[in-house]
Amino acid sequence: MSSAAIDSLLGRRSMKFVQAPGPSETELDTILQAAMRAPDHGQLRPWRFRLMRGDAVAKWAETAIRICEEAGEPITPQKAAGARQWLKNVPILLAVGCYIDHSNTRIPEEERMLATGAAVVNMLNAAHMLGYSAYWSTGLGTYVDEVAEALDFDPLEYRFMGYVSFGTAMRELPTRERPDYHDFVTEWTGE
Ligand SMILES: Cc1cc2nc3c(=O)[nH]c(=O)nc-3n(C[C@H](O)[C@H](O)[C@H](O)COP(=O)(O)O)c2cc1C
Repeated sequence: MSSAAIDSLLGRRSMKFVQAPGPSETELDTILQAAMRAPDHGQLRPWRFRLMRGDAVAKWAETAIRICEEAGEPITPQKAAGARQWLKNVPILLAVGCYIDHSNTRIPEEERMLATGAAVVNMLNAAHMLGYSAYWSTGLGTYVDEVAEALDFDPLEYRFMGYVSFGTAMRELPTRERPDYHDFVTEWTGE
């Protein structure tokens, strides 16, 4: 086993504030290919990604804020300022959707969303292993249907699951205290 890979995995953490350089074209290929390795019941491949790069990212922030306003679900000025601050320098943003293929009634929707979530986590880890920071957020209109629609995630067909931002950390990543897994694991012995 590669201890470097395990060390990297155990060192992953999220970073919201990132800037250029983002992953190169080849690195982005690798990150997206990692998403395709997610466990996926029934091989439904439910994950869908809308890629935004460079200026399109900040432009999307303005678009989403406007759509929320027009939809009667306005974002508070404080939250809008936070979203602008977050997306101002992000070089790569993926909007994440889960396709609900209604023709398949065998695999529950929850499992499709879990597979999509697993795809995101693979990307978070891949980005970290390549030396970038990433962050998953539902912070900008994720639960406003009109925002999902603007990303071509028709709420009848998709669950919009938020955004993943990728880039270079703007500040040193502080270490984050992690819980002891013993607090979360019990053993069933059959006795
Ligand atoms: C589905 C999902 C949505 C999230 N949305 C937000 C969010 O909107 N705002 C936020 O501060 N953190 C959000 N987080 C948490 C961050 O992505 C991140 O996990 C958290 O800051 C802890 O950092 P860590 O990943 O290093 O433990 C979300 C996490 C998940 C799994």
